[in-house]
Amino acid sequence: MYEQVSHSLLNDILLKLDPDIIKQKDMRYFYTRLGANFYAIHSLFHLLYGDRRDVPEMMLKLVETLARRYIARPDRLRAKDLEREVNHNWFLSQEWVGMALYSDGFAGDLKGLQSKLPYLQELGVNMVHVMPVLDCPEGRSDGGYAVRDFRKIDARIGTVEDIDALSQSMHHRGMLLTLDVVLNHTSDEHEWARRARAGEKDYQDYYYVFKDRVMPDMFDETMPEIFPESAPGNFTWNDGMGKWVMTAFNAYQWDLNYSNPNVFIEMLDIILYWANHGADIMRLDAVAFLWKKIGSTCQNEREAHLILQLFKDCCQVTAPGVLFIAEAIVAPVEITKYFGEDAIIAKECEIAYNATFMALLWDAVATKKADLLNRGLNSLPDKLARATWLNYIRCHDDIGLGFDDMDILALGYDPAAHRRFLVDYFTGRFEGSIARGVPFAVNHKTGDARISGSLASLVGLQSALETGDEKATDDAIKVILLLHGMILSFGGIPLLYYGDEVGTLNDYGYLDDDRKSDDSRWVHRPTIDWDKVELRNQPNTVEYRLFTALKKMIAVRKELPAFADFNNRDIKDLGNPHLLAFMRFDHQHASPNVFVIGNFDAAPQHVDLHQLRQMGMFKFAGVRDVITGEEPAIFNDRLVIPGYGLYWLSD
Ligand code: GLC
Ligand code: GLC
Repeated sequence: MYEQVSHSLLNDILLKLDPDIIKQKDMRYFYTRLGANFYAIHSLFHLLYGDRRDVPEMMLKLVETLARRYIARPDRLRAKDLEREVNHNWFLSQEWVGMALYSDGFAGDLKGLQSKLPYLQELGVNMVHVMPVLDCPEGRSDGGYAVRDFRKIDARIGTVEDIDALSQSMHHRGMLLTLDVVLNHTSDEHEWARRARAGEKDYQDYYYVFKDRVMPDMFDETMPEIFPESAPGNFTWNDGMGKWVMTAFNAYQWDLNYSNPNVFIEMLDIILYWANHGADIMRLDAVAFLWKKIGSTCQNEREAHLILQLFKDCCQVTAPGVLFIAEAIVAPVEITKYFGEDAIIAKECEIAYNATFMALLWDAVATKKADLLNRGLNSLPDKLARATWLNYIRCHDDIGLGFDDMDILALGYDPAAHRRFLVDYFTGRFEGSIARGVPFAVNHKTGDARISGSLASLVGLQSALETGDEKATDDAIKVILLLHGMILSFGGIPLLYYGDEVGTLNDYGYLDDDRKSDDSRWVHRPTIDWDKVELRNQPNTVEYRLFTALKKMIAVRKELPAFADFNNRDIKDLGNPHLLAFMRFDHQHASPNVFVIGNFDAAPQHVDLHQLRQMGMFKFAGVRDVITGEEPAIFNDRLVIPGYGLYWLSD
């Protein structure tokens, strides 16, 4: 867009650019993209920082940052940017299947991870979220989310060269690399924090620092506690500074102050630095928290969205092929806002964690009913075109039961009691529960609690193996496959969690380590036992049964255009509370529809084929499950879905 005020500022900036930048050749694409994005960049910058006198200097610094990172961008990545501009729906395809993993837990270090890429390819995974790899203080790292140096890899797992080699090897194999950018806070040992502590005012301004409790007390009135057990309150007294500093997460994680444009520019430079080291996708951590306001929960503020839009517009100038994932584990209506208000003029993140679907799937597992799941999915707001979900069952974090109270009420349950039941169920306290989860972040003031535990342990595999109960083992395997079948077909990028493909159980080793024992999330951050993984080649083992079935489903998914994500899903209410069913259709109507139906109950359920035909499905005689290639059980014109069964049906 051409607009005079911003354009004349751009002209001024171009005149003042560092001569090193001006003399660069081959900047065509940079300047056209800068021109195209500048109006938006300027408007957002003005909205966020317009009351400062140094706006022109800051804007110059911003443009120079974009230019320098463009100049440093390797040719192979520039070429990818151009390819992705042409084929801009590339990431909506069903061909992508992701996995999140810690490189040390998975394979020792980054080199080890590179040597295991063939294993991921064997399974069909072609997008890898490598959990945080940056330098963190030992033992005060929050699993990598308390960064001491944003440009240095943790020496125990490798070097920047290892990341370059990994990304190149992945690109040769047609795989995507996802890296984290921890935007909301730094470690208290980061250089900025050290300089703040030493009394440098400029660096104190990078954080929220207060001389007394007046402001902190006001913030605390409305800010919830994220880690109420291990890090109560939202501020930490720092002796060195003699001041209070905001620490919404752990006491050693200092919240960055985005009302300071220097912070924005520094973090932008870090995003582009990792984009230039080959990250295809950036997972932006804790994005809901980016703006703090007294009197609010300090989550999902409008300015947090403006900051993300500004990051996106800037990234589009230097590295337009790079995508953002929003990690916003917030209420269903809030999550979709992180895609942006508009796919073109107000875009934020192309991808977002589907925390609602994740939590609802767990509700269905515990209750053996899909009624809340159905309702919750129906009340999910529509997302933008050219935006997609990251669908997951487990990740490195806890399970928060963040679905909507109204939906729980509508089903006749009391929200607080229902959530208490779920926590009790998954932590094995509910009578008869087969789950072996561990409570996380129990808040005695509010009664809230969340859940840790590996997928296999939460669905009963651990208890079944302990008692040697074969039927229970079979059931747990079926539930694991049912859940994966759901995330593989729902629409979006399925994100598996490392170890789940072979049924990895809880790892209680963290309890012996005092730097981890107060954070139960470590129970599901395993070190992979590769001898056990080897059992995937031995028929009848749990590992074999899970791995082979998952591998098959992944391969089938990739062949079905109906599973690409073009908002092409219809949820079907079949009147049976145990079933979740939805139709996926090819948005180009060139290939068959797929009807997904899953049974969350242990007992078989049935559906009238007549009813399905009335809904326009299965016009032809032969209904086929595309996973097995076989006809499903049909009796008296009724389709039978076995206990914990899943079909992907097509005619
Ligand atoms: C994100 C991470 C989580 C971490 C938090 C604070 O939510 O997923 O593991 O504790 O941010 O950085
Ligand atoms: C961590 C916490 C989660 C919180 C999130 C915010 O993931 O475990 O409960 O909501 O951080 O990003």
